[in-house]
Amino acid sequence: MLAAMASGPWRAWIRPALSRVWWFLRTRKPPRRLRFTREGKLFVGLTVGVGVAAVNTGNNLLYLVLGLLLSLITLSGVLSEIALRGLEFRRRLPRRAYAGVAALVEIEVLNRKRYAPSYSIEVEDRIEGRRTDKRCYFLKVSAGARQTAAYRRVAPVRGVERYVSLRVATRFPFGLFEKWREVEMPEEQLVYPSPLRTGERAPHDTVNGEHFAREERGQGEVDGVRDIATALPLSIVPDLVGWPREGREHLLRWAGATFDSLGPINKQAVRTAPAALGMMRFSRQVVRKRALSPGSMGAEVLAAADAGRIAHSDCPALMIDYLAPSLDTTISAIASGLALFARHPEQWDLLRADPSRIPNAVNEIVRLESPLRAFSRKVARDTTLAGHRLRAGERVLVMFASANRDASEWSSPDTFDITRDASRQLGFGHGAHGCAGQGLARLETQAVLGALLDRVERIELAGEPVRAPNNIIHGYARLPLRLVAKDGRA
Ligand code: HEM
Repeated sequence: MLAAMASGPWRAWIRPALSRVWWFLRTRKPPRRLRFTREGKLFVGLTVGVGVAAVNTGNNLLYLVLGLLLSLITLSGVLSEIALRGLEFRRRLPRRAYAGVAALVEIEVLNRKRYAPSYSIEVEDRIEGRRTDKRCYFLKVSAGARQTAAYRRVAPVRGVERYVSLRVATRFPFGLFEKWREVEMPEEQLVYPSPLRTGERAPHDTVNGEHFAREERGQGEVDGVRDIATALPLSIVPDLVGWPREGREHLLRWAGATFDSLGPINKQAVRTAPAALGMMRFSRQVVRKRALSPGSMGAEVLAAADAGRIAHSDCPALMIDYLAPSLDTTISAIASGLALFARHPEQWDLLRADPSRIPNAVNEIVRLESPLRAFSRKVARDTTLAGHRLRAGERVLVMFASANRDASEWSSPDTFDITRDASRQLGFGHGAHGCAGQGLARLETQAVLGALLDRVERIELAGEPVRAPNNIIHGYARLPLRLVAKDGRA
């Protein structure tokens, strides 16, 4: 008969009926898992021992003890079940999270049961399917009550973190076993890069404090390159990348040499080649020793390599790729700005009269001075550009400096004029490979000019500036300046 039921028309409704019953049971009682604690295992062992002794001896007292022990185990099962039932959870993620910085994640629990409180509830988040090992503990949640607890979460790297579920557990009442269930709660949190750690000081302090200290001591003269222009570039990007403190004293020499090696192969390139190689050698060491500060971009590059997203062998070059182009370029822009304002005091007065001109002034400085003069491109396929035939494989020199003074594009191209609209300058390149750090470079240059505007009435040349020879970068080696404060003191 059973065979007939299984193959006959019964089959058509038995299966759906069974699956409905299964669904009902699951929703009434979501799946639990159970793990005996050490004490629980001892207790079960003791119960089995008493059971064996009772059966062998027929001793009534032992049967009584066995009954007591078994009822304690049963009671544990029932009470822990009640504790886990009827609970609803909500997770509140921080409004903003930064890599490497602790932020609070709140867990709210609502006990929907009418009469029974829930005791000893432990809630743990699962991120990307892994346990976080950060728990919120609720000693007692009364019937109908709502409670909130929080834990500190430090996201190791920036990007999207996927919260998956909550693991809700209890050892109530006797700690014999831990019973838990998973509560699906998918959510995503965008983790921003670590906030800037400028080491010892904030950018504004760097500019205002240390580098104008001479002025405060009444000596008045500073080197625009060494004392002002290098301050921000030498602290911000190395900190972002997480570059170790030791070895920073070589950064300027190494980065300059890296630019030299990108130009023509001339004496300058040959002379500086060992320094360019030195930077790569040091970077390999940094990667090998994993000497990058936690939460930094460099640490994220290593994490990506560990996760198999990039090759480990690419890491040393990647550390340099963002650092090397950030130094001489921005130092040149800042120093060039100081030199230009020293030579054109009326432009400094215009800027002081209206500081909202600072962003355009930075564009005009980069237009006129073009810190990065030229880069080359390899022709990918035969083409014609401005009437010239270019063949695949040939090299073309893209001269940003020349475009920025193109007389057919700019009126009085050699004049420094912060009131002209210089926003279309090409000093940061253009297109897919346009400068990846131009936002930061603008910010740094604007910060220095802004800090000076607050306190300096006049910038004067205190000697002849000296150019720094480089195959690509157009910058200064020395820029003797006198900063005249608002009260007329030098
Ligand atoms: C005033 C300062 C700066 C100037 C004038 C400048 C200029 C340039 C130029 C002309 C290019 C080449 C664009 C091309 O090939 O078409 C470039 C590329 C690049 N710059 Fe800058 N740069 C400056 C600051 C920075 C800073 C501060 C950083 C990093 C924080 C940076 C990172 C880069 C990178 C990574 C590239 C390569 C982009 C690519 O090939 O996709 N630069 N920059």
